[in-house]
Amino acid sequence: MNRKYRKTVIAGNWKMNKTPSETKEFMQQFKAILPKGRWCDVALCVPAVCIPAAVRAMRETRVGIGAENCNANASGAYTGEIATNMLVDAGCKYVIIGHSERRAMGETDADVNAKVLAALEAGLTPIMCCGESLEQREAGITDEHIAMQIKLGLQNVSEDKIRKVVIAYEPIWAIGTGKTATPEQAQEVCMNIRAVVRKLYASKNARAISILYGGSMNEKNAFELLAQPDIDGGLIGGASLVPEKFVQIIEAANQPTA
Ligand code: 13P
Repeated sequence: MNRKYRKTVIAGNWKMNKTPSETKEFMQQFKAILPKGRWCDVALCVPAVCIPAAVRAMRETRVGIGAENCNANASGAYTGEIATNMLVDAGCKYVIIGHSERRAMGETDADVNAKVLAALEAGLTPIMCCGESLEQREAGITDEHIAMQIKLGLQNVSEDKIRKVVIAYEPIWAIGTGKTATPEQAQEVCMNIRAVVRKLYASKNARAISILYGGSMNEKNAFELLAQPDIDGGLIGGASLVPEKFVQIIEAANQPTA
């Protein structure tokens, strides 16, 4: 983290977990133990049907609610899809875009790019995900793969909007596996992501964007990961489903930075 130049963001990704009733229950417990300090932004991205319950419960707190996906089109014949203006109207502040689990269902870099542009247009903060597979890491093409995802995902994002984008680095081999990237591995990739952004945008903007790490981040390893200079927060799956664990990760963001 480097709080002098950028925001720390601790974001939960519930994936396909919890019903609206369970959301209400979680939020009550979470609210009761939520740290009062304002040292980082806190987001919870929840299943679409849980958004109303989450927004209602977190009103008047500093926790922003987000969606886990969106459609890039403004409206129309897209059965089952949700547009960005619907998310805004429902009270969302964030939307996760291009998670590897959605890419595995066929989402392309062009789709990711269209969704990032639509989210920015609507005033949402896109959390754009990237990450390499184990095969790609072992073949030594992590940096190339991620540079391509970043460059394609950010196409036509203007200089004045880039600071609103949050990037999440999530190595696929570390997601839900209990196998976390080492702080050094995660730092190296996050630093390279910032370097890619610096090639595309003014260096003051590259310095200002928040880059999160995700992949088996939990209350035990968060402190060390967040101590890395280019890791500005976390995108947390499993550990965000348990209020006590998620709160401990938020507390780990309260550490001195360089
Ligand atoms: P886990 O924290 O469960 O490994 O999930 C990470 C993730 O995919 C967050 O988007």
